[in-house]
Amino acid sequence: MNFAIVGCGFIAKKHAQAIKNIENASLVAVCDRVPDLMKPYVEEHGATPYMDIEEMLKDETIDIVNICTPSGTHAVLAELIAKLGKHVIIEKPIAMTIEETNRIIQATEQNNMKLAVVHPNRFRPVVMKLKEILNKNLLGKISHALCIVNWNRDQAYYDQAPWRGTKEHDGGVLMNQAIHNLDLLLWFMGNPVEVFSMEATRLRNIEAEDVSVGLIQFESGALATVQASTTVYPKNFEESITIFGEKGTVKIGGANALYFEHINIEGTHENTIEKWINEVKEDPWGTPGHEEIIKDMIQAIEEDRKPSVTGEDGKRALELVLSFYDSAKTNQLVSLI
Ligand SMILES: NC(=O)c1ccc[n+]([C@@H]2O[C@H](COP(=O)([O-])OP(=O)(O)OC[C@H]3O[C@@H](n4cnc5c(N)ncnc54)[C@H](O)[C@@H]3O)[C@@H](O)[C@H]2O)c1
Repeated sequence: MNFAIVGCGFIAKKHAQAIKNIENASLVAVCDRVPDLMKPYVEEHGATPYMDIEEMLKDETIDIVNICTPSGTHAVLAELIAKLGKHVIIEKPIAMTIEETNRIIQATEQNNMKLAVVHPNRFRPVVMKLKEILNKNLLGKISHALCIVNWNRDQAYYDQAPWRGTKEHDGGVLMNQAIHNLDLLLWFMGNPVEVFSMEATRLRNIEAEDVSVGLIQFESGALATVQASTTVYPKNFEESITIFGEKGTVKIGGANALYFEHINIEGTHENTIEKWINEVKEDPWGTPGHEEIIKDMIQAIEEDRKPSVTGEDGKRALELVLSFYDSAKTNQLVSLI
C-alpha cells in the first residue's frame, strides 16, 4: 500500500516511522506548506514533496493519506482526500465540531473509502488487557471509574505554533491530550448519558482550558470523574484510569498509563495477576499504536471491513469533549441522549 502524509510537523514523524516498519507499506508522497519540513521524508523515504494537496492527490499510486495537520484543518482535507478516491487516516481529534465530523464520515462513506482515527492508546498492552478483563466481565457490575491526566505542557509547547491552545484549531487539555483517555473511558464503560464539567485557564497563556474536572453518568448507571490538566509542575505526573466493580478493582497508571498499578479480582489467583503485571512490565509500549492503526487500515482494506478505530469512535470521543465544554460554559448538566 502506498501512503502519503499531509502535514509534516511533530506527529508526522511517528506516521513515517510506522509506515517504514510495515513490510507492505511505502511513503510515496508528503505535503506541507513549509518546504524544509518535507526534506527528511524526501531523503529517507524517497517521498515526492508537494506544497499543494490537490496536486499530490493526482498521484494515482497513492492508496491512503494520513492527515497530520492542525485539528481545525482535518475536515476540509479529509473530504477532499475521500472525494479523490483515497482512504483516510486522521489524527485525533477527528475534527473540532460534530458538523465537520459528519461531513468527514459522509465523504468517506459516499466515496467508498475507509476512515480510521488515530487513538493509538487502545493498542497499549495494559489497555488491551484491561479491555479483555472487562469483556470477560471479571469485575462484575461496575459502580464507577476515575480518569486522570495530570500532565505538563509548558508555555513553550503552546508557543511552538500559532494554532496551539486556540479554541478554533486545537482546544485545551481535554481536546488535545485527555481525548485519548476519554476515548478509552468510552471503550471501557459504554455510552455516556449525562455530563457536568468545570474548567479554567490557570497557568498557561492560551485561549482554551489548561485544567478541567468533570462528571459522567453512563447508560449502565455507572459514574465517572475526570480530571485533566497541562499545568502540573514540573513534568507529567499521572495518567491513569481506575475501574471499580463489585468483584474487582483495577488501576492502570504511571506518568503515562502503561502499567497495572493495582489489580484485585475475586476468583482470579494472585499468580495469574502477577503474570499479567509482569507481561505488561516487560513490554509496556508494545508495538507503537500508530503502527497498529496503519497496519489495521491495510488489513481493513484487504478484508473490506471497517478499521478498528472508526470515524464513529472519533465522533463519540469528540462529542464527549464538546459536551464537557458546553457544560463548563453554561454551568449546566448536559445530556448526550
Ligand atoms: N495521536 C497522537 O498521539 C498525537 C500527538 C500529537 C499530535 N496529534 C495531532 O496531530 C495533529 C498535528 O499535530 P502536530 O503536533 O504534528 O502539529 P505541528 O504544528 O507540529 O504540525 C502540523 C503541520 O501541518 C502543516 N500544515 C498546516 N496546514 C496545512 C495544510 N493545509 N496543508 C499541508 N500542511 C499543512 C504545518 O505546516 C505543520 O508542519 C493535530 O491534530 C494533533 O492533535 C496527535
